[in-house]
Amino acid sequence: MANVTVIGAQWGDEGKGKIVDWLSERADVVARFQGGHNAGHTLVVGEKVYKLSLLPSGIVRGTLSVIGNGVVLDPWHFRDEVAKLKGQGVEITPENLQIAETCPLILPFHRDLDGLREDASGAGKIGTTRRGIGPAYEDKVGRRAIRVCDLAHLDDLDLQVDRLTAHHDALRAGFGEAPIDRAQLMADLTEIAAFILPFVKPVWLTLNKAKSEGKRILFEGAQGTLLDIDHGTYPFVTSSNTVAGTAASGTGLGPNGAGFVLGIVKAYTTRVGSGPFPTEQENDVGQRLGERGHEFGTVTGRKRRCGWFDAVLVRQSVAVSGVTGIALTKLDVLDGFEELKICVGYKIGDQSFDYLPAHAQDQAKAEPIYESIAGWSETTAGARSWADLPAQAIKYIRRIEELIGCPVTLVSTSPERDDTILVRDPFAD
Ligand code: GDP
Ligand code: IMO
Ligand code: MG
Repeated sequence: MANVTVIGAQWGDEGKGKIVDWLSERADVVARFQGGHNAGHTLVVGEKVYKLSLLPSGIVRGTLSVIGNGVVLDPWHFRDEVAKLKGQGVEITPENLQIAETCPLILPFHRDLDGLREDASGAGKIGTTRRGIGPAYEDKVGRRAIRVCDLAHLDDLDLQVDRLTAHHDALRAGFGEAPIDRAQLMADLTEIAAFILPFVKPVWLTLNKAKSEGKRILFEGAQGTLLDIDHGTYPFVTSSNTVAGTAASGTGLGPNGAGFVLGIVKAYTTRVGSGPFPTEQENDVGQRLGERGHEFGTVTGRKRRCGWFDAVLVRQSVAVSGVTGIALTKLDVLDGFEELKICVGYKIGDQSFDYLPAHAQDQAKAEPIYESIAGWSETTAGARSWADLPAQAIKYIRRIEELIGCPVTLVSTSPERDDTILVRDPFAD
């Protein structure tokens, strides 16, 4: 297995960016395969902090990076992110970055609609990033999307724009909004096309060629399994499949290309946005986790909700993504806790569950069954070898492995790139 597929195994923000950056040193190509600029992946390299939303994290090391067809692409955001990184000394050119021809575009009215719907939903709102992700995926599935390859054929877009305006103008009227300004849309697309087109390539071909040459491909998932449109806490999810299987459909490399599936798992649990969260701690514990872990959203700045480690959810993620091994991140945030709790099952009414049932009402009522484990007073922050970890921290890791039925491959002990313990090299498998 020469390739590695990185996915989030909780509700996102598990530290995927740090781990992808760390692994990308050994990769020949890094590929995003779903989501869009709703993601926020943080990389810390010495004094520098890079926050990537749309660009694959491998770009910071200059590794060839590709945006696969499964990603929804806001071309104006793309241009801004390229400029932001250039300001940080990372040069992005068609030599090191490719965009799939078939990526659907996120257009300004998608962003409007995302916000209008959230504002109209009151207590029922999803808590989206308001970046137009859901509406853009809806148009893809509705066969109305304008795609990246259309930017090279703007004089041949009338029928597609008819489809789009027929759909969106009716929705916009319902919200009291003016119809789409067709001339403005075409002018905006014409203006951005010149910037995007040089990056556009048949990414599926690039990846298949890399595979046949025995090169190492690193797939970078966004969000997490519990935000997956099918397997997550629906409807409080994102609008794409976030599971590892999407690495294949979202890039055009067959399912045998995924390689080692590395699930990124935070040593506790966080969630940003609305929806059920059985182990949430709206108390001193949650406050302490949030402060020690700096749990604020990378994209929206919102405070992340925090709680104990939920082994039931991670076991479920391991199953639905076919996770080979996990990277356990933010272990250092637990330093100094006298006692740690791990959720090992749920009670819903008088029934017990060893998985999270599908219905939102059941999920909202699920009460965690905890086991307790003693914490450690020593520091793990900055540890770079297993021998640096206190015995009690090792016990915590071993218990997690047992409960989720999956081995720990990497442990991360600070935001810094090299504060990482390698237990087993996922590329070597
Ligand atoms: P992603 O969306 O999965 O890439 O994760 P984010 O970047 O949104 O959030 C993870 C946050 O935790 C970032 O600020 C990282 O710099 C930070 N981080 C990653 N690994 C560790 C770790 O092991 N310890 C600590 N303290 N912070 C970490
Ligand atoms: P990374 O890749 C955490 C959440 C939003 C909201 C829901 C739907 O950094 O882990 P959307 O804008 O996608 O329609 O919002 O999904 N969400 C994330 N939460 N990390 C992310 O990405 C997220 N991307 C979306 O907060 O609850
Ligand atoms: Mg994030």
